[in-house]
Amino acid sequence: MNLENKKLVVANFKMNLASKTEKDYWLSNFIKAEKKSEATKNALILCPPAIFLDEFVKNINSKTTSFGAQNCFWEDKGSFTGEISPEMIKSLGGEFVILGHSERKRFLKETNEMINSKTKRVLKSGLSPIICVGENAEEKRNDQGLEIILNQLNSILEGINRGLINKIILCYEPVWAISANKPDHLPTINEIMGAKLLIKKFLVEEYGVNIAKRVKIIYGGSADSKNINQVCLEPEMDGVLVGKASLIPNELIKIVTSLN
Ligand code: PGA
Repeated sequence: MNLENKKLVVANFKMNLASKTEKDYWLSNFIKAEKKSEATKNALILCPPAIFLDEFVKNINSKTTSFGAQNCFWEDKGSFTGEISPEMIKSLGGEFVILGHSERKRFLKETNEMINSKTKRVLKSGLSPIICVGENAEEKRNDQGLEIILNQLNSILEGINRGLINKIILCYEPVWAISANKPDHLPTINEIMGAKLLIKKFLVEEYGVNIAKRVKIIYGGSADSKNINQVCLEPEMDGVLVGKASLIPNELIKIVTSLN
């Protein structure tokens, strides 16, 4: 899907839709809600558990919806038990892969080097990586947020072919604002803008203005239809990455149309 001039809503289902029944229920409600919704030119990117990707692609038939996975491995095939490759995702109709989510860093000990290898392989397959960067609560307390984001960008984008940088979507996702961590507040508009400017500046310095302006920068962390102004529209982000709110089809569609 061509994302130019579009705002993005990336739905990260995480390990939810926890049974065939739940997945069927979500799909049928989504299809109904989508039919009734107002038209949008924005892009919705659904990233269900990989085991359901094929079915999502086959059942959801909308010009504004694309599909992706929540992770992948850095090789295309071979003896890597339990892993899935970018080529597999692509062959099912996926165009995007979320990489570097903080939950994978926390529970699976993913490092920036691993995310760098995954990013290279995803780009080689012609898919777009959606790369998460952001500080955790302790780093925020120590006022290290911006430094952490720069470190992550430097390591994750190291050695990436500059001709492919514009295929990357960057997501500023302050770990402390993710709903699973029970945030007591959201980042302010200024905090989100500060992170966005830092990322833009990094891209301009590394790759020049022309490439930098084509890289989408979105926000993630407790985004929903009620706070979409604060987390996306006011700080002029290119979209949002939505976790918990994706589980309610009507809410997800409301988020997409509120970006019209
Ligand atoms: P949340 O999740 O919207 O539930 O905070 C966002 C994410 O972690 O991807």
